[in-house]
Amino acid sequence: MILVTGGAGFIGANFVLDWLAQSDEPVINLDKLTYAGNLQNLASLEGDSRHIFIHGDINDQQKIATLLKQYHPRAIIHLAAESHVDRSIHEPEAFIQTNIVGTFRLLDIAYYYWKEQEGEAQQAFRFVHVSTDEVYGSLCKDAPAFTETHPYQPNSPYSASKASSDQLVRAYHHTYGLPTLITNCSNNYGAFQFPEKLIPLMIVNALSGKPLPVYGDGQQIRDWLYVKDHCSAIRRVLQAGIPGETYNIGGWNEKPNIEIVHIICDLLNELHPADYHKLIKYVTDRPGHDRRYAIDARKIERDLGWRPVETFETGIRKTVKWYLDHQDWVANVHSGEYRKWIESHYQEHAG
Ligand SMILES: NC(=O)c1ccc[n+]([C@@H]2O[C@H](COP(=O)([O-])OP(=O)(O)OC[C@H]3O[C@@H](n4cnc5c(N)ncnc54)[C@H](O)[C@@H]3O)[C@@H](O)[C@H]2O)c1
Repeated sequence: MILVTGGAGFIGANFVLDWLAQSDEPVINLDKLTYAGNLQNLASLEGDSRHIFIHGDINDQQKIATLLKQYHPRAIIHLAAESHVDRSIHEPEAFIQTNIVGTFRLLDIAYYYWKEQEGEAQQAFRFVHVSTDEVYGSLCKDAPAFTETHPYQPNSPYSASKASSDQLVRAYHHTYGLPTLITNCSNNYGAFQFPEKLIPLMIVNALSGKPLPVYGDGQQIRDWLYVKDHCSAIRRVLQAGIPGETYNIGGWNEKPNIEIVHIICDLLNELHPADYHKLIKYVTDRPGHDRRYAIDARKIERDLGWRPVETFETGIRKTVKWYLDHQDWVANVHSGEYRKWIESHYQEHAG
């Protein structure tokens, strides 16, 4: 089996669902259930013995050591993190505690676990650390996209904490030989994304007739990847990546934020007619807002044969439809109702 951290969050839940749709290999899902963790994302797995949910913190080394001893996973896929840049500007401490200290504690326990393995089991073990393109900093308009050897120049407390965690993962490979892999991915979008991030925020606000806040001039450029493509890339890295290597993951799809907002308004207008464009409202820019991220994802294609399946047009259509069809999910998230889910549905595993 495999151990996934942060599997009740946006990417983690998509990863667990896709994994179990394609394989019978069980998943232990360790998640602290912060505001971003939502077990309703995994409601379709209720009663499925292949999914073992453990309510816990990656900082809790004793709990993780017990889990590793009990379940003997062949790999750890580390997604647990504080992930929202705006929150990191207002309250950076949680980012340091989870993304840096928590990753260190998880790595350290993983190292002792791996060292005690023998032969084939030790050779096959993998620690996959899921990170972001934001660690590379900001690019000028015409600069070449980030490759894996681009210097780290993080600019926000979020990206600085992820950069630190990447460096710790790298050090555990180089110093102790722990078979780690790092992935640096661009902005994800898709089902189950908490409506504080750009794409779900715009969809959800538009549907309730609220303003669509666009930072600064809206010309910040990001590369966008459909979340299921990110999940397939992580699976591929686990399966065939070389320990010690870093793989950039991207969608070959750079767009300014304002263009994303217009695309969402057009799609909503088609699927749920109303004049959404008039809700766009420019607001004061985020401090230190990076202008452009762009990912050169040629290495993962060349070495591991991975390319995204969705284009932005197909992925964003699926995403807008998902939010239209799951307005109850959005209402639960907004009201905080989703927090009660664990009490009524997962009592037996909640530790
Ligand atoms: N969302 C993106 O666009 C994107 C892009 C590239 C990389 N990433 C990385 O992918 C990972 C997942 O991102 P996401 O968007 O799904 O984040 P998310 O905020 O939606 O989910 C994070 C999950 O981690 C859990 N968690 C937080 N602190 C924890 C702790 N101390 N112990 C155990 N669990 C904890 C939360 O409860 C939540 O379920 C993060 O590491 C993030 O940096 C995200």
